[in-house]
Amino acid sequence: MYDTVAKAFQDHFGHPHTVASYAPGRVEVLGNHTDYNEGFVLSAAINFGTYFLASPSEDTTCRIVAGDLMAEVSFDVSAPNPVTENTWANYVIGVLAGLQSHGEAQGGFNGMFLGNIPLGAGLSSSAALEMCTGLALGKLYGIEVEPLEMAKIGQKAEHEHAGVKCGLLDQVSSLFGQENALVMTDFRSLEVQTLPMGDDAAFLMCNTKAKHALVDGEYNERREHCEGAAAYFKGALSHPVAALRDVSWAEWEAHESKMPALAARRAAHPIGESERVLKGRQLLDAGDLAGFGKLMFDSHDSSANYFENSCPELDTIVNAAKGIPGVLGARLSGGGFGGSVVALIHPRDAETVAHAINAVFEKAHGHPCDISVITPSAGARIVG
Ligand code: GLA
Repeated sequence: MYDTVAKAFQDHFGHPHTVASYAPGRVEVLGNHTDYNEGFVLSAAINFGTYFLASPSEDTTCRIVAGDLMAEVSFDVSAPNPVTENTWANYVIGVLAGLQSHGEAQGGFNGMFLGNIPLGAGLSSSAALEMCTGLALGKLYGIEVEPLEMAKIGQKAEHEHAGVKCGLLDQVSSLFGQENALVMTDFRSLEVQTLPMGDDAAFLMCNTKAKHALVDGEYNERREHCEGAAAYFKGALSHPVAALRDVSWAEWEAHESKMPALAARRAAHPIGESERVLKGRQLLDAGDLAGFGKLMFDSHDSSANYFENSCPELDTIVNAAKGIPGVLGARLSGGGFGGSVVALIHPRDAETVAHAINAVFEKAHGHPCDISVITPSAGARIVG
């Protein structure tokens, strides 16, 4: 893929690139919608990602080409404002705007990106684009940014240029991923740890290709409900509550019937998820993959029942997975409302499990889902 985009860059701009970066997508393994509630998540960078190639331009014009479409967007470096057509460019433009608050970018650039992360699959193709853009343009302009700051630049691009009030999970996972390791993040302290995964575990990503309308709006609405529930607990509990992270499952149970019903349902999910991540970590440390997998199933049930961010296609896979020998656990991964299921398996079972899932999925939805083996992989980096 690198050779392909390097050649396309040369052909399109008439000169070679001077910097190149790569950033992977991510899989969320446990801890759904906990990041913006200041909770915990286990995730991994994946073996699919995006390259960004760039070189300085001769004036102040910035040209960005999406290498798969060969569509181009251009703007002046002094005006990195959101665009309403070719909106993929907003991730790049937003990151440039963020870099400019850390240093000066005076001249323009020629840039092209190309990746293999399926779009809309819940694998964070947008965060990968942000992080490879940030690394390449940071190097081009000589603007040095610490990884956590880079993650925040990507998040700000999502908030201000793409309209999604996401947390930091996707960017942190893309930056901090390591080969054969899970990334465990505390989204309050922003402490990031990597936990080695034995070679007896692998993930299957099952992309339903389902895209339900208003996904971004639903995401932002869930976030508002969580913030509303945190405000309730702040008034109701005797200890400080800055976010749902501060509320225990026992406290939720004690207040469930006293608070507005919808807020209670929504809050149950991130509160339960954060506790599941901490428990899951202990089980992983003890080598109990079956116990960990059970938490993944519980996570999905919590999504479906409390947060209502699942959909029939995701439920088909998870419900089938519960009865398929070799599946240790399965759940939706990422924002929800479509996208992918992540299943925990032993590597030797990959083929039979994929076959069994697709037999059920195709019968229910009339087409197969796309299933790939996911390997926890190294994080974003400069590659040239
Ligand atoms: C999306 C967001 C993340 C996170 C997940 C759900 O991927 O971008 O910040 O909230 O959904 O856990």
